[in-house]
Parts: sequence; structure tokens; C-alpha cells
Amino acid sequence: MNDVAPNAKKGSSAFGRYFFVLLLGLVIGAFGAVYALNALSSNPQSQFQQGSMHVMGWNMGQLKQNVAAAKCSASDSIPRIQAINVMARDLESAFPKYADDAAFVKAATDLRTSSNNALMAAPQTCDGVSQAMRNIGLSCEGCHSKFKD
Ligand code: HEC
Repeated sequence: MNDVAPNAKKGSSAFGRYFFVLLLGLVIGAFGAVYALNALSSNPQSQFQQGSMHVMGWNMGQLKQNVAAAKCSASDSIPRIQAINVMARDLESAFPKYADDAAFVKAATDLRTSSNNALMAAPQTCDGVSQAMRNIGLSCEGCHSKFKD
């Protein structure tokens, strides 16, 4: 019995130290997260960047859901593609640090072209919508592969 008690005590104080370090890590992490969120929400430029990307992402998601639900009429798809096309016009203003980078401008132009083409084609079938999504998706990836971390 006498041997067990000191060990248990030793174990529990080691546990206490680890627990303290764990807690400290959580507190520092929480402060870091709050700081990062503040930095994001208080910076209009980064709100614009993320906002435009999220709008495009959401509309791509809607197109995907439409295809899954076999809702592929022009009135289902055109507003989604238009939203992407409109966002694509302002990519250089959203990312001023890349506005003079020829590769970025080309990638942005690619998206304007693929979304324009999709609007002109005005797909009325799910195959057509899927094809438009593939072309638009390639434009998204063309930029992300170079400019998104
Ligand atoms: C010309 C460049 C470019 C094109 C084209 C582009 N993106 Fe992005 N996208 C970026 C960059 C740069 C980031 C990283 C932004 C950041 O971390 O602030 C990004 C990030 C994102 C994110 C993550 C945003 C976040 O806050 O985590 C989503 C979602 C996204 N893009 C969707 C799309 C979709 C969908 C398309 C195509 C319809 C697209 N993007 C086309 C440059 C582009």
C-alpha cells in the first residue's frame, strides 16, 4: 500500500502538468482563432475575396444538386451560371495583389470565357449542364492550382 500511494501521487501530478499544458494550448488556440476571425471580418478586401469565392462555390453546388435532382431547365441553370459570370468579372479587383500577374489575369479570363460560353449555349439538358460545369470547373482549378494555398 505504501508503495502504491506515492506512485499514484506522482502520476496525478504529471497528469496535472499535461492537463495544464493542454489547457494552455486550448486557450492560446482560442485566442488565435478569435484573432484570425477578427482579422478576416474586419478586412473588407478579404471579405470580398472570400465572398466572391463562396458565391461561386455555392452556385456550382446548386448546379450539381440540380443535376442530381434532374432539374436542368434553362431557368434552373442560367441564374447560377450568371452569378458565376458576374463574380468572374471582378476577380482582379478582389485580388489586387495578383491584378498585374499575367497568369492570374489569364485564369480569370478563362473563367469569364467558360461561363460566357455556358450562358451562350444555354444548356437545357442535364448532360449540357454537366458539360458546362466541367468547363467552368476547369477554369476554377486552373487558377486554384497556381494561386490558392
Ligand atoms: C483567377 C483566379 C481564381 C479563379 C478563376 C477562381 N478562384 Fe477560387 N480562389 C482563388 C484564390 C486566390 C483563393 C484563395 C483565397 C484566400 O485564401 O483568401 C480561392 C479560394 C476559393 C475558395 C475557398 C474560399 C475560402 O474562403 O476558403 C472557394 C470555395 C473557391 N475559391 C471557389 C471557386 C470556384 C467555384 C471557382 C470557379 C467557378 C473559382 N473559385 C475560381 C482564385 C480563383
